[in-house]
Amino acid sequence: MRTIRAIAELRQALAGPRREGRSIGLVPTMGAFHEGHLSLIRRARTECDVVVVSLFVNPAQFNEEADLAAYPRDERRDAELAERERVDYLFVPSAEEMYPAGFATTVSVGRVTEMFEGAHRGRSHFDGVTTVVTKLLNIASPHVAYFGGKDAQQAVVVQRLARDLDIPVRIEVCPTVREPDGLALSSRNVLLSPDERNRARALHRALRATASAVDAGERDAVAAKAAGVTELEAAGVRPDYFELVRAPTLEPVNRIDGDILALVAARVGAVRLIDNEPITLNTNHARSPSKSNHRASTTPRRS
Ligand code: PAJ
Repeated sequence: MRTIRAIAELRQALAGPRREGRSIGLVPTMGAFHEGHLSLIRRARTECDVVVVSLFVNPAQFNEEADLAAYPRDERRDAELAERERVDYLFVPSAEEMYPAGFATTVSVGRVTEMFEGAHRGRSHFDGVTTVVTKLLNIASPHVAYFGGKDAQQAVVVQRLARDLDIPVRIEVCPTVREPDGLALSSRNVLLSPDERNRARALHRALRATASAVDAGERDAVAAKAAGVTELEAAGVRPDYFELVRAPTLEPVNRIDGDILALVAARVGAVRLIDNEPITLNTNHARSPSKSNHRASTTPRRS
């Protein structure tokens, strides 16, 4: 594995393999690797000839100075883990390399960035993500780029970005990797105290409670959400949002009439956590399948 810090050097390193028609996979990260990151890297390793992992704690996407300062960093450990996964190139640019003096461009995706994380963290968060992801895609020009389903809205935003700007890349979204007790792996989990770590389990419990309610036949979104919110409240966790949305558009649903995504974000102590759960409609369990099927085909979509 080679660690590269300069954009020109990475371009040069990838020119040969690209000419030879070898496939290039990119896994963008902010480091502090855990099994979630490693699952993306492994997927890239099995699917691509050349694997590039970028490690850049992108200041532009942090809306709080304290969050940026507290973000865990351990390049040496990350490099060891990447090496073990047979990564070819670890790209670790400095902030000056990515945002040199005079930098003045922002890539901004509309609509799908406006709600949820965009609403709670502010416009600049997704602008920071989409600007840096555009740069990384331009720098590495990968055939495939890998993102985690754990950051569901980010994955939707990046897919929108690639489509809208005609970036010739396939965006692969990989499943969320969890702790045995259900907590989604996150670089921020190390910042939780033992008590907070315990309470953080409520996020996944809440998503599961809502999924179970839907599985048992609940089709009213307010009632299905209430099952989840009860779990959060029992653990003393107040959500920033707990919402049921249609997967590709992220528009909230009132009546559950198709496959959806349950989204949650909450602060546990000082740490802000997000998670989500895809919920597939099991029509066999619906209370009145014929009625709900009828509604599914006739109810206009709400926006
Ligand atoms: P970071 O939080 O380091 O995450 C890097 C990638 O790992 C993202 O695609 C994220 O969705 C994925 N990931 C995180 N936790 C995961 C889990 N438990 N299971 C599966 N995948 C997981 O997301 C970012 O960095 C940045 O916003 C970035 C895209 C790199 C742009 O700066």
